[in-house]
Parts: sequence; C-alpha cells; structure tokens
Amino acid sequence: MLYLASDHAGFELKEGLKNFLTEQKIEFEDLGCDSAESCDYPDFGHALAEKVLANPESRGVGICGTGLGISMALNRHVGIRAARCMSVEDAELARRHNDANVLVLSGRQTTPELATAMLAKFLATDFEGGRHEGRIKKIEI
Ligand code: RB5
Repeated sequence: MLYLASDHAGFELKEGLKNFLTEQKIEFEDLGCDSAESCDYPDFGHALAEKVLANPESRGVGICGTGLGISMALNRHVGIRAARCMSVEDAELARRHNDANVLVLSGRQTTPELATAMLAKFLATDFEGGRHEGRIKKIEI
C-alpha cells in the first residue's frame, strides 16, 4: 500500500501522481489535503507517518511546497525515514542506501514528469542492506 499526503502547495503534484498510480494499478490511499486551499503541512506529515508505521510493508509520499517542512514533521517519528528527493538518483539511493519508507517531493520545484519518474524508481528499488543496515540503525537515538 502507498499512502499519499500533501499540503496545499503539493496538492496539484499529488493529483498528478494519483493518475500515474491508477494507470499502473498501484494501490494507494490519499490522506489529503483535498484542495489547493491553504492548510498546514505538519497535520498531513504526522497522519502519513502514523499510517506508514502502522503498516510496515507500506510506503508513503509526502509533498509540500519545498518538501522541507513535511520532511521535518515526518522524521520526528521513530521508524520513519523520509527522504526529500530532487532527482531520480536521489530516489534510487534513498531506497538502496537509506531504506527510506517515505519519498518526499517539492510541489513547487518538481515537474509532474520528474515526480512520476522518481516515484517509479522509489517503488522499484530495494534496500541493499549490508553495510547500510548498521548505519540506518544508528539513525534512531
Ligand atoms: C506553504 O506555503 C509552504 O510553506 C509549505 O508548503 C512548505 O514548503 C513548508 O516547508
């Protein structure tokens, strides 16, 4: 299962990703927001973190204007590794090296095409484990 969440500044990009997911027949749940009306990214970041932690096999996508604020909210939750990505390589390495469970995107700096390519790579890439296993364990304090 893939959970999606954004504030108003990520709403449009989130809608575009939903079209891609529907075409690809990838199951998802949209946790909001539901319009481009101003709202607060922590509300959606925390809701997304709770869903991903409750379903350990799931992944998430969080979007705000820059991707920074929603990352901060997500990464306050132990067990969430939210990676703000700006390239397909970021999305790949976030999975391979960091076992990221949430892809974070910038609604204002990312085109729908790049967002789709990053999401496809994020979903298709496995964690490498090995030397990275101990490193991600050290993230939790
Ligand atoms: C909203 O204007 C904007 O501040 C928010 O989407 C995000 O970029 C915060 O980090």
